[in-house]
Amino acid sequence: MRILSGIKPTGQLTLGNYIGALRNFKTFQDKGECFIFIADLHALTLPIDPKVLRSNSLDIAAFYLASGLDPKKCTLFLQSEVSAHAEANAILQNYLYMGELSRMTQFKEKSHTMKDSAIGLGLFAYPVLMSADILLYDANIVPVGEDQTQHIELTRDLVNRFNKRYGKVLIMPKAEVGKVGKRIMSLSDPTKKMSKSDVKGDIYLKDDMATVRKKIMSAVTDSGSEIKYDVEHKPGISNLLVIYAALKDIDLQAAEAHFKGYRYGDFKKAVADAVVAELEPFQKRYQEIIRSGKVLDILHAGAKKASVVANATLKRIKHAVGLLDENQ
Ligand code: TYM
Repeated sequence: MRILSGIKPTGQLTLGNYIGALRNFKTFQDKGECFIFIADLHALTLPIDPKVLRSNSLDIAAFYLASGLDPKKCTLFLQSEVSAHAEANAILQNYLYMGELSRMTQFKEKSHTMKDSAIGLGLFAYPVLMSADILLYDANIVPVGEDQTQHIELTRDLVNRFNKRYGKVLIMPKAEVGKVGKRIMSLSDPTKKMSKSDVKGDIYLKDDMATVRKKIMSAVTDSGSEIKYDVEHKPGISNLLVIYAALKDIDLQAAEAHFKGYRYGDFKKAVADAVVAELEPFQKRYQEIIRSGKVLDILHAGAKKASVVANATLKRIKHAVGLLDENQ
């Protein structure tokens, strides 16, 4: 089994990225061949300072390692270092259509405040490159948070369309979202997703522990006093319950039962304790990894390994569509 996923180095990673994706990656490295990358080409789809992009990319690599990903078991690499991604993108863009791309929620959300004249083509064509990322590794499983599942559905449409025309060339991928925590919401507005660009309602993986506690203690809650999972009537409490359950690896019923009779203040303190218990040692490992100075070497070695797999698939794709290669 092949597993592939990636994170885009556009901003500071959040607890949403951690619970929805990053934390789950390590559970796959013993289940099959695992490829986890830094989606740095995707980060260029919105304006970003080159220095910030470089430092975010290194941070994500260090976060991967700090989360328990082992480069011996799982290939870690930079997307831009494996040129097959850009080449496959150039071919596959012909098999996804304008109408489909314009219906993508992420595109609509990111572009709705921008003028048409300022929306880069890369932002619109984003799912093509993402499909290339997935298909180059013949990935069966793509672990992601809920917001990315629409792009994976589109990748599946592409596979059907391409294979119908050329035979069984591409492998059908499937999104895998965690049971608890597939969509962590903002602490300041629990009806909105926690995202890298939301300043107030986010917990960042690099926040110090006092800030983490303060943010959780001032999270928006709901009227009433019961600790209950009820997204419609109690979105704030439900979000905190999800965060707790995900970090403790328990289901929501067990979390609810645990907090029966708790007051909101004590409940929030327990959630803050759970987040601190996870993030404090994680940050320590992250610091050690950054200090070791080995991150770039790991990424370069990973890109070499990834290129072998990606180039073989690219060759298959080129041959299928009729591009001549050295054997013709
Ligand atoms: P990105 O960088 O926006 O997010 C990285 C991962 O974090 C998940 N996530 C969340 N999960 C739960 N709650 C949240 N609030 C939350 N916010 C983000 C995302 O679902 C994602 O799994 N397009 C991708 C990167 C990418 C990719 C790929 C992923 C590029 N190519 C190929 C998988 C396969 C992205 O922008 O994720």
